[in-house]
Amino acid sequence: MADIIIEKAPVLKKMAAKKLQDAGMAREDAGTVADILVYADLRGVHSHGVLRVEHYAKRIRSGGINLAMKLKLKMLKPNIGLLDAQGGMGHNAAKFAMGEAIKIAAKRGIALVGVKNASHCGALAYYAQMAIDAKMMGMACVNTDSCMAPFGGRKAFFGTNPFAFGFPAKKDAILLDMATSEVAFGKVLHAREKNMTIPDTWGVDAEGHKCTDPHKVVSVVPFGGAKGNGVAVMVEALTGLMIGGVFGPHLVTMYGQYEKRRNISNFFFVVDPKVFGAKPSYLATAQKMIDELHAQEPAPGFEKVFIPGEIEYNTMKRYAKEGIPVPKGVYEFLAEKN
Ligand SMILES: NC(=O)c1ccc[n+]([C@@H]2O[C@H](COP(=O)([O-])OP(=O)(O)OC[C@H]3O[C@@H](n4cnc5c(N)ncnc54)[C@H](O)[C@@H]3O)[C@@H](O)[C@H]2O)c1
Repeated sequence: MADIIIEKAPVLKKMAAKKLQDAGMAREDAGTVADILVYADLRGVHSHGVLRVEHYAKRIRSGGINLAMKLKLKMLKPNIGLLDAQGGMGHNAAKFAMGEAIKIAAKRGIALVGVKNASHCGALAYYAQMAIDAKMMGMACVNTDSCMAPFGGRKAFFGTNPFAFGFPAKKDAILLDMATSEVAFGKVLHAREKNMTIPDTWGVDAEGHKCTDPHKVVSVVPFGGAKGNGVAVMVEALTGLMIGGVFGPHLVTMYGQYEKRRNISNFFFVVDPKVFGAKPSYLATAQKMIDELHAQEPAPGFEKVFIPGEIEYNTMKRYAKEGIPVPKGVYEFLAEKN
C-alpha cells in the first residue's frame, strides 16, 4: 500500500461519519462533523481534516465530549445570541451558531453570536463560507489552549487563536482563514520526524530563545512579532474574555484531560452588506477589486497575485475531481472495523 491513499470526498465523509458513530455520536451529528472535516481536506487543510477523527473518537470514549448537547440559542438582545455548548462537539455548535447568526443578520442587518463551553470546531473557513453562501460578510474566531509564547515571553500562554473572515463577490469570494501563530505546531512535529532544521521564526526553546532545532522547540510564536501577538490577544478578548470567561492557560487542553469537557469560546459576527445600500452593489465592487488584483503584475518569484482563500478554492476544485490524498495510517484507522 502506498504512503498516501487517494479517496473521493463522499467516501471519506462516510468513513469519518461511521467512525464517529461507532464512538457514540448520533448519525446526523456525525454526518455534520464529517462534512466539516472533509471540507478542510478538500481545501488542502489536512491538519483539520479527517486526520482528527481518531482524536475526537478517543475524547468521546473518555467522556470529554457531551453527546447530548442541546442546541438552543439564548437571545440576549434582538441581534445578539449566546449558545452554551455544554461541552458538546465544537463543529456542531459552531455550525448551528453561524446558521443562527446568518438568520438574524438577514432580518436585522447585523448579528453577534457567542458560543461557550465548546470543544474543538476544526477549520474556521467552513463557518465563514456559510456567510459567503448567504451573500453576507462573516467572521469566526475561537480561542485555543496554550502552545504559543506571547511576544517577548518565554513560555506558551495563548493558543494559536485563529480567525476566519469571509466576504462575497459576484463570482469569487474573499476567505481568509488563519491561525495567529507563525506556523501550526504540527509543522514543528513534521520537521522532528524528518530531522530537518526549521526557520528560527517558528518557535522558541525552553529558555525562550529562537531556535532552528525542531526537537528543542517548546512553543510556537505569533506571526509578525508584536502585531500577530496583538491579533491573538484580540481573538482572546472576543472569545474567552467576552464570552466564555476562560482564556489560554485556563482552557481544558486538547491533548490530555480527555475525560474533561472543554471550555472553548467562539465568536461569530455577520453583517448583511446590503444594509449600506452601496451603489454599485458590494458584490460588483468586491468582484472588481478581485479582478483588478488578479491583473496586478506578480513580483519576481510569484506566479500571480492571489486573493485570500483562492489557493484553497483551486485545491478544492482539483480534489473534488481527482480525490483527496490521505496518509495511509489515517486511512487505515478510518477503514478499520471496530
Ligand atoms: N479550531 C481551532 O482550534 C484551530 C486552531 C488553529 C488553527 N485552526 C485552523 O487551521 C487552519 C490553518 O491555519 P494557518 O494559519 O496554518 O493557515 P495558512 O497559513 O495555510 O493560510 C492563511 C491564509 O493565508 C492565505 N494565503 C496563503 N497563501 C496566500 C497567497 N499566496 N496569497 C494570498 N493569500 C494567501 C490563505 O488563503 C489563508 O486564508 C485554518 O483553517 C484554521 O482555522 C483551527
